[in-house]
Amino acid sequence: MIDLRWFEPAALDAAPPEFEGMAELRNAHSRLFDGDFASLTTARKIFAGAQSPEFRSFFCLAVEGGSVIGWAGLDFPLRENLSLAISFGSVAPEHRRRGVGTALLDASLDRVRAEGRTEVQFWGRLPLEALTISPEGSLPLPETSLRVRLDDPSVSFLTRHGATPGICERESAVDLQGNPTLDQFMTTTPAAAPEGYTLTTFAGPVPKGLLGPVADLLSSFSADLPSGELEWEEEVWTPERVQEMDAQTTARGITPVTSVVLEASTGRGAAYSRVTRQEQTPHRADQGITMVLKEHRGHGLGALVKRANTEFILREWPEVRRIYTDNADQNTHMLRINEAMGFRRSGVALGWKLPL
Ligand SMILES: CC(C)(COP(=O)(O)OP(=O)(O)OC[C@H]1O[C@@H](n2cnc3c(N)ncnc32)[C@H](O)[C@@H]1OP(=O)(O)O)[C@@H](O)C(=O)NCCC(=O)NCCS
Repeated sequence: MIDLRWFEPAALDAAPPEFEGMAELRNAHSRLFDGDFASLTTARKIFAGAQSPEFRSFFCLAVEGGSVIGWAGLDFPLRENLSLAISFGSVAPEHRRRGVGTALLDASLDRVRAEGRTEVQFWGRLPLEALTISPEGSLPLPETSLRVRLDDPSVSFLTRHGATPGICERESAVDLQGNPTLDQFMTTTPAAAPEGYTLTTFAGPVPKGLLGPVADLLSSFSADLPSGELEWEEEVWTPERVQEMDAQTTARGITPVTSVVLEASTGRGAAYSRVTRQEQTPHRADQGITMVLKEHRGHGLGALVKRANTEFILREWPEVRRIYTDNADQNTHMLRINEAMGFRRSGVALGWKLPL
């Protein structure tokens, strides 16, 4: 018999034993995509991540004979986007096509309705082969000429349940060693900020003096981010919210390196880029947000902050062999810098929407 068990980590003192099984499922799924470079999680990290003040988080676990065979996570944003729920999940490959995914989805949708939210956004990863340009047996993706094959399990599953693709994100990776494209980028991109700007690179939490500019940059980023056909409201970041994000990052065993460019005359933020590394996977780093404020674009600040973080990583974190990132497929400016750095497309992530 399959038992569906709900957990709200914020209401618990510690991770329940079932979270070990969920961590194993998630790690096996990540290894399918990234092999030895998979981003690995643990019960403790999942538990810590679900204590964020940004979201109210729930997990529904499908348990059979004492083993976790499927999971679904639900995040309800608490600051903005109050009509949305964000969902992730998977079913162990050997237990698919038995209705476990549908049972988890139905239970999740009941909870979304009970919380009074009116739209669910699902996120899932797909292999590159799931993309096609042929109209046969495929679905169009928003804002790109690429299509996605209906025979991919997640595509057929979510389509059958009424969801539609809202955005196609390109996943890419760059190898740091023996990569002539990256070497060329590091040599030809200026290391210092252009006249009128200052550059600071730091590991760990944002220093006090930069909290205001970083909060302003993150607020602008949320307004500018290409979100395809997915709704995403503008976020209002304050210095306190930045500190909360840093505390969460530390609690999850994640270390960031961040580069910030300020406009020298005003001390205001102009550009920002953050890369993180997790303690269990020291050979992998993940590129997070990079942004340049609209009025400061065209001065090479995007390449400057990315170069500065990469230089830090090569010097201070020599174990890192590969950096991963994802970008909206229509984000041409960011993709151009990434391609110059030697990032190559490695996979696809799709954001889906299901209005209730
Ligand atoms: C998508 C996923 C959760 C489906 O789980 P599941 O337990 O196999 O789902 P169900 O058994 O309830 O399938 C329901 C329907 O989805 C469709 N479907 C699911 N897998 C399919 C496949 N491989 N090929 C074609 N249709 C498929 C079918 O219509 C199926 O009904 P049927 O078996 O009666 O034909 C699972 O394949 C998975 O974990 N994939 C990887 C993670 C992921 O992409 N998650 C979704 C984004 S959050």
